[in-house]
Amino acid sequence: MKIYLVGGAVRDQLLGLPIQEKDWVVVGATVNEMLQQGFRQVGKDFPVFLHPKTHEEYALARVERKIGKGYTGFDFDASSSVTLEDDLLRRDLTINAMALSAEGELIDPFHGKEDLENKILRHVSKAFVEDPVRILRIARFAARFSQFGFTVAPETMSLMKEMVNAGEVDALVAERVWKEWEKALNEKNPEKFFEVLFECGALQVLFPAIQLNENLMKASSVISDPEMQFALSLFGVSLVDITSICDRYRVPTIFRELAILLTTFYPVYIKITEYPAEYLLDFLQKTDSFRRDVRFKKFLKMCEIIAAVYSQPQSTAFIMQAFEAAKISYLEADLKGLTGKQIGELIYQKRLNAIKALSFYHQ
Ligand code: CTP
Repeated sequence: MKIYLVGGAVRDQLLGLPIQEKDWVVVGATVNEMLQQGFRQVGKDFPVFLHPKTHEEYALARVERKIGKGYTGFDFDASSSVTLEDDLLRRDLTINAMALSAEGELIDPFHGKEDLENKILRHVSKAFVEDPVRILRIARFAARFSQFGFTVAPETMSLMKEMVNAGEVDALVAERVWKEWEKALNEKNPEKFFEVLFECGALQVLFPAIQLNENLMKASSVISDPEMQFALSLFGVSLVDITSICDRYRVPTIFRELAILLTTFYPVYIKITEYPAEYLLDFLQKTDSFRRDVRFKKFLKMCEIIAAVYSQPQSTAFIMQAFEAAKISYLEADLKGLTGKQIGELIYQKRLNAIKALSFYHQ
C-alpha cells in the first residue's frame, strides 16, 4: 500500500499557509489490511479510517458515481485497484486535487500547482456537477482566497450556472447550506461568497430576498466578526424575510438575533438625536444594551458602517454618552423594602434623570 497527503493540506503547504488538517489517501489497500494495521474505521458511507496514534484521517482511494438526486445519492468503489489519479479526478478543484508522496513528490495530474500560481479556482472534471455542495464550496474558497487574487475560472462558472439551471441547487439541504455559509462568514472576504453565488444564479434560488449592495459589502470587509458579517449581509432584507431565511437554514440564535436587532433599530439609531430622552432610554432598554453590552457595541459598529455608506447621521458618540450615564448599578440604589415593580420604576427614573442631565438636552 502507498500513502499520500492530499487535498487542502497540499494546497495550503504550497501556498505557504498553515496546515489546518491533514487528510491522507491510501492506495492499494483493503479494509481488512487497514484494520490489521490498527486503523479504526469511521466512515459510514465510504472507507475512512483514523490513524491509531495521530487520529488523522486516512481514506481508501475511491471513485464515486452519482446514482440519485442531491448530494446523498452516491455509490463508490474503493477496491484496491483504484489508482491515486482516479481518486484525484473525482475531486472538486484542481488546487484541491494534488497529492504529496512520503518522498516529497508532488502528484499533480490536473495542474493544480499552475492554477495556484495563476490564482484560479478551476474544476477538475465534468464530475464536478455531481455534487451541488461544490457550488457553495467554490463560493467559500472565493471568500477565503480572493485576498490573494483568486478568481473562479470562467468555465467553472459556466458549469455552476448549468447546475443551477438544472435545478441542482434546489436539492441542497439546509444544514449543508448553513455549514458552508457559516464557514464563509469566518473567511477574510465573506462578501465574495454571495458575489459568486449571485454570479452563478444560486443566490437567487437559495436567498431570493437578498439584494447585493456593493458599497455596503465593501465597507463591511473591515469587520472580522462572523455574526456581524451575517447581520450586515442581511441588512436591507425585511424582518419577515430575515426570519424566513433563518428558519429555512436553521441559523443559530446568536446570528439571527443580531441581524434582527440591526434591521429593527438602525432606523432609530440614525434619528435618535431628534427624539426626547425618554425615547433614547426606551431604545437602550429595547436593545438590551445594559445587559448585553458586547452585542450592543457590535450593533453600534454596524450602524456606523451603514450610516457611512448611506451618508446618514452617526449617532454612536451620543448614544455611548447616554449609555454610560444611564448604566446605573442596582447596588447603588437603596432598594430595601421595595417590590420588583418599584425597583424597576426607580431604576428607570434614575436612568432617565441621568440621560436628561446630559448637556445635549440643555443646549
Ligand atoms: N472534496 C471534494 N468535494 C467536496 C468535498 C471535498 O472534492 N464536496 C475534496 C477536495 O479535494 C478537498 C478534500 O476533499 O480538498 C477535503 O475536503 P475538506 O476537508 O472539506 O476541504 P479542504 O479542501 O481540506 O478545505 P478546508 O481547508 O476548508 O478544510
